[in-house]
Amino acid sequence: MKHFLSIKDVTDLNQLITNGIAAKRDPFVNIGLGKNKTIGLLFFNSSLRTRISTQKAAQNLGLNVITMNVGQDGWGLEMEEGVIMNGDKAEHVKEAAAVIGSYCDIIGIRSFAGLQDREKDYSEIVFEQFKKYADVPIVNLESATRHPLQSLADCITIEEFKIKQRPKVVLTWLPHFKALPQAVANSFCEWMNPMDVELVITHPEGYDLAPEFVGKGQVIYDQDKALEGADFVYGKNWSSYQHYGQVLTSDPSWMITEAKMALTDNGKFMHCLPLRRNMKVADEVLDGPRSLVIEQAANREWSAQAVLREVLLGL
Ligand code: CP
Repeated sequence: MKHFLSIKDVTDLNQLITNGIAAKRDPFVNIGLGKNKTIGLLFFNSSLRTRISTQKAAQNLGLNVITMNVGQDGWGLEMEEGVIMNGDKAEHVKEAAAVIGSYCDIIGIRSFAGLQDREKDYSEIVFEQFKKYADVPIVNLESATRHPLQSLADCITIEEFKIKQRPKVVLTWLPHFKALPQAVANSFCEWMNPMDVELVITHPEGYDLAPEFVGKGQVIYDQDKALEGADFVYGKNWSSYQHYGQVLTSDPSWMITEAKMALTDNGKFMHCLPLRRNMKVADEVLDGPRSLVIEQAANREWSAQAVLREVLLGL
């Protein structure tokens, strides 16, 4: 594997899931693979899970890890080419990426959507510029449009907990007062498409995801109807793609409660975290036996380890 930016960089998804589960059973079997190699983890945005799980996965593979909060620990980076740099960005990505690439064998990056300009966000300029100028593999720690390490952890979790060959998986929009990116929802759909699942997507009108991510997913605007018979309920808030970055509603009736979960086929609840309790999901669900959010988060370590192993093998 050269870069890991989306599922398009994965040649065998089933094998990658199997490798993640194998890493969980025997975390240190490949500890020699990263010896004398360094991964740099660059965070343009906050993180708990991605930061710690990727660092831990890298250490399990014997990698040295350098983590940096870009713009706080270092200089603000200009991404656009040919601009007069008379604003608040003191360094250009052309130099920064090349320099970091000279120190690191792999670079992981987190850079969220700004939610102001859809075309700019969906062009993934930060990742494209690092790819162009760093000359080492780039790993997506959540970009403007995707969160593939999360999605792989989600696939691993569904594989571990499914009790039917072809489970019904429902991605449901959840209410939130803030505008959040579409990345997790986009990516989840993109990774569920090749899985042997029945994928249903439910959200209020105006929240349709970009068609290239929806794929085979069936869109149902009635949440109760969508939840009927679900084996897995995957909750996430996202802002509008059509009315880009806008919050069109925060209708509390979309919150996941035990009454909503009772519509499922004894379904399990999943969410990438972090989440606001009793705004998006009720305590009774999160604190009950249906919740997989901790198991899901724990699997972030194994998804990162499976991916970093592939990248190291490709060096
Ligand atoms: N799910 C996830 O990516 O969590 P963090 O934002 O804490 O990394």
